[in-house]
Amino acid sequence: MINKINIAIDGPAAAGKSTISKRVAEQLNYIYIDTGAMYRAVTLLYIENGKDIINNLGNVEISFKRQDSNRVFLNDRDVTDEIRSQAVTANVSEVSSFEEVRNYLVAMQQKIGLEKGVVMDGRDIGTTVLPDAELKIFMQASPRVRAERRLLEEKARGNNIDLDKLTSQIIRRDELDMSREISPLVQADDAVLLDTTELSIEDVEAHILYLAKQKIGVE
Ligand code: DC
Repeated sequence: MINKINIAIDGPAAAGKSTISKRVAEQLNYIYIDTGAMYRAVTLLYIENGKDIINNLGNVEISFKRQDSNRVFLNDRDVTDEIRSQAVTANVSEVSSFEEVRNYLVAMQQKIGLEKGVVMDGRDIGTTVLPDAELKIFMQASPRVRAERRLLEEKARGNNIDLDKLTSQIIRRDELDMSREISPLVQADDAVLLDTTELSIEDVEAHILYLAKQKIGVE
């Protein structure tokens, strides 16, 4: 019997984590969990409802549904597109630094990881959420290359953003994510560092699948 493993993929903003994680999960027939989307969903609630919502997260359910694409739901509401807005992106680092938010979402993520067969991407997966994950990857790329990749995504969504502005936004978000008190963005000691600056999506995917198959025990 083939054992299922958990794969933790961490790294700074726009390093390509979600694109790669999705593809790896598909190849292994695993579940893909985008934890950044969960922090974004709570940030959307915060923008709409104000601070009080942070102490009332018990009634908030965040779920993922696979339709033609991966959709993110906040209770029954499809928030897939709204959580990528500039307003959410600008506030998400602050909201994700709140202890109540982290406790709530980390518990939810750990529950999902219990079954194994999960590819989870974020900032603290290998260090805090799934410290026992069999494979941990830390994806890195230069800020400029990450901004260029994000620019293409934004263009595809019909948004025109200046590359310099995007680069400084990304650097600023990294600084906030790396300097926060609770579970900051940091490479786990046992994570494999992958710098994707010069690599194609296919190269990165193939490399992670190779490492995963070694852990699973199949060629
Ligand atoms: O991966 P992303 O850019 O969608 O993540 C949005 C923000 O959420 C990121 O700037 C920091 C926060 N985040 C976090 O604190 N911990 C995670 N596991 C995932 C995301």
